[in-house]
Amino acid sequence: MNNLRSVLTLDHSIDFVSQVALFDGFEAQELEWVNAHLNRDTFREGSTIITEGQAGHVVYIVHSGSLKVYALQVDGTEVVLSIIGPGDVVGEMSLVDESERSASVVTLEDSDLLWMERSSFEEGMQRIPRFAQNMARLLSERVRLSTAHIRSLAALHVNGRVARQLLAFAKKYGRKNDEGGVLIPMRLTQRDIAGLVGASRKRVNQAVVEFKRRELISVNENSHLVLHNVEALKFLTD
Ligand code: CMP
Repeated sequence: MNNLRSVLTLDHSIDFVSQVALFDGFEAQELEWVNAHLNRDTFREGSTIITEGQAGHVVYIVHSGSLKVYALQVDGTEVVLSIIGPGDVVGEMSLVDESERSASVVTLEDSDLLWMERSSFEEGMQRIPRFAQNMARLLSERVRLSTAHIRSLAALHVNGRVARQLLAFAKKYGRKNDEGGVLIPMRLTQRDIAGLVGASRKRVNQAVVEFKRRELISVNENSHLVLHNVEALKFLTD
């Protein structure tokens, strides 16, 4: 694996862990148990951390950075299932259903990940009822997202799908900037957005160029998108 083993193994704070949806509602000693069973590694941009079809041994929680979850079609093309960021959990499905990895996951930028061994994950689910409840909620949310995505493929034109995706990122990860815009602190390429919304890169580029021309969005010096007119973007998704 192309990772840099971190010397910071134990400095992930309980503050961060307490804000992760998977550990929502945990008592202080339960959070301590979780913290004691988490490891931490830094992965360089472009590291494959999960490979479709392999056995699953660990579950990851994104501490910082962004990752792409994707599956390969028989013709070699990529279907992007999700792009995830801080606080998100990935790699839990094969631990829950004891099946092989359902998709591949690659880092889109240098990313800091917390991870838990399968044996600790299983022990935690037994010991802490909230753990299993939160897991069920997380999987249910994922099905809802997939349903919304399938609906948008059928109902929306490409501009609407791109707008919907940008709004979803803004809602989940967005930070207000000084100019009243919403910064999406992730490195999103047009190719990845295209894979996510089921359109060609060329068509997504046209949408992005149009959004920029209308000053609905811009790209900052770190190549991060900034949304300037959320209402106008919402209008495109109706
Ligand atoms: P696992 O099957 O262990 O390994 C691949 C991971 O990708 C999987 O667990 C989930 O965490 C994640 N994943 C698979 N399908 C989706 C999807 N449709 N949306 C978001 N994440 C997914």
